[in-house]
Amino acid sequence: MTAFTYRSDPPAQVRVDVLVLPIFEGPEAGPGVKDVRGADLVRLYEEAGLKGKRGETLTVPNVDIDGLAARSVLLLGLGKKEKVDANTLRRAIGRAAPQIAKRKSVATTLPQAAGRNAEDAVQATVEGIVLGSYRFDSYKSGKTENGAPEEPALESVVVLGSPRWNTRAVKQAIARAEIVSDAACFARDLVNTPAKDCTPANLAEHARKMAKEVGLEVKIWTEKELEKGGFGGILGVGRGSVNPPRLIELKYEGAAASQPPIALTGKGVSFDSGGLSLKDATNMEWMKDDMGGAASILGTMKAIARLKPKVNIIVAIPSAENMPGGHAIHPGDVLRHRGGKTSEVLNTDAEGRLILADALAYLAERKPRVIIDTATLTGACVVALGEDITGVFGNDRGLIRDVVAASEATGEPMWELPLWEDYKPLIESGVADIRNIGRRWGGAITAALFLAEFVGDTPWVHLDIAGPAFTDKGGDFTPKGGTGVPVRTLVRYVLGQATKPARPARARA
Ligand code: BES
Ligand code: ZN
Ligand code: MN
Repeated sequence: MTAFTYRSDPPAQVRVDVLVLPIFEGPEAGPGVKDVRGADLVRLYEEAGLKGKRGETLTVPNVDIDGLAARSVLLLGLGKKEKVDANTLRRAIGRAAPQIAKRKSVATTLPQAAGRNAEDAVQATVEGIVLGSYRFDSYKSGKTENGAPEEPALESVVVLGSPRWNTRAVKQAIARAEIVSDAACFARDLVNTPAKDCTPANLAEHARKMAKEVGLEVKIWTEKELEKGGFGGILGVGRGSVNPPRLIELKYEGAAASQPPIALTGKGVSFDSGGLSLKDATNMEWMKDDMGGAASILGTMKAIARLKPKVNIIVAIPSAENMPGGHAIHPGDVLRHRGGKTSEVLNTDAEGRLILADALAYLAERKPRVIIDTATLTGACVVALGEDITGVFGNDRGLIRDVVAASEATGEPMWELPLWEDYKPLIESGVADIRNIGRRWGGAITAALFLAEFVGDTPWVHLDIAGPAFTDKGGDFTPKGGTGVPVRTLVRYVLGQATKPARPARARA
């Protein structure tokens, strides 16, 4: 575990292995660079052919540099000075993080480069280091050349701020960053765990363990209980698998019991083979990530329980393994969801909406102030927005605005897509209340319209994370694999709600 501390000491006097100093495009000295009087660091950077573009780094060893206590300086490019914000810092240091994490002690003035909001800048810097140095190597044996890498060395990070900053607020920002990044890494671990070791029952046990650790109420529904409760969608999707489905319920009470809760759910398909509407091999490669929505809600709750905002939250996460098998549902089968609505399953690969329908209906019964769901729901959303951007759908302008604003601050990009009512006839069924697929086009929209049928009048937002839940190319502060999206956005949204009085439930926009 890395210890993060805060100081406002002169950077050149801090005795660490690496002093990370920012450089703006030009190159131009960032905060702290001129404090190192014994060397012209900007000139060294320029001589190395670097301009200060975001992520361009140069390590300068301390070869008797006058007045410099650190053993080396890492000059980190941030791009154009006037464009630097918290998101720039997270991305820049995130890229350097794997290298930084090989050293024992680090200090940085980075947050001062985007100092207009010191707390956000500090939080982003700490997040960049933790998220960027994340690794998932529990399945590496260490017996091959690309086996287990050396243990991370990083023991201490000193965040160097300005004496004018509010020490208490900045220290809180560091603590918040540690909690939120840990929660995102928890979600990443769950997504990265192979489906063989992450069945619905395994996922539920991880949830139970986490809940006990941080002090959340937890209830795991077994298959029998789901039958009694009328959760036909979850049971239907789970039928083809030898690993029975579950519903994971969590409760956080941070406010008076009279305050209506925020309700959260996430798609927990532990593996999506497509079922009898079987996927081809290429489309199945990464389908262990189909519980990314569930993982992100568990991560969010882990952080919330530790941050203790004054809100109430209820969670119901449906989990099932979508497999072909003798008992599997067939195309043409009709399922009866929680609350009684029926759906005709024309494609067993459109399974996420079937399990979420039950969870949404269950949550709506409890009259929450809002419902938010997150799901690796449709390939169509990835076609529309690419691999990095979360699709946002909803029935309430204010809620959509709040969630998208949170995403902008956390650097988890999101974009609204229309919940276009005129497409509703595409999911009308001849035999049931609704069918689970539309036609070829607009698949992310018809999926969202399907979900909308189960939330009633509750203000609701649906986040389609089919693209960003997992990356096979890696990002600035995201190694290959599970990303933890959208944990940080959801935590920020919830913290923002804690400061406001509850909005009365409003009718659809
Ligand atoms: N889990 C998939 C969606 C998905 C696709 C997630 C790519 C991550 C990356 C989902 O269950 C699915 O199979 N959706 C189908 C729906 C179709 C059958 C209407 C799809 O998008 O092709
Ligand atoms: Zn799926
Ligand atoms: Mn599917």
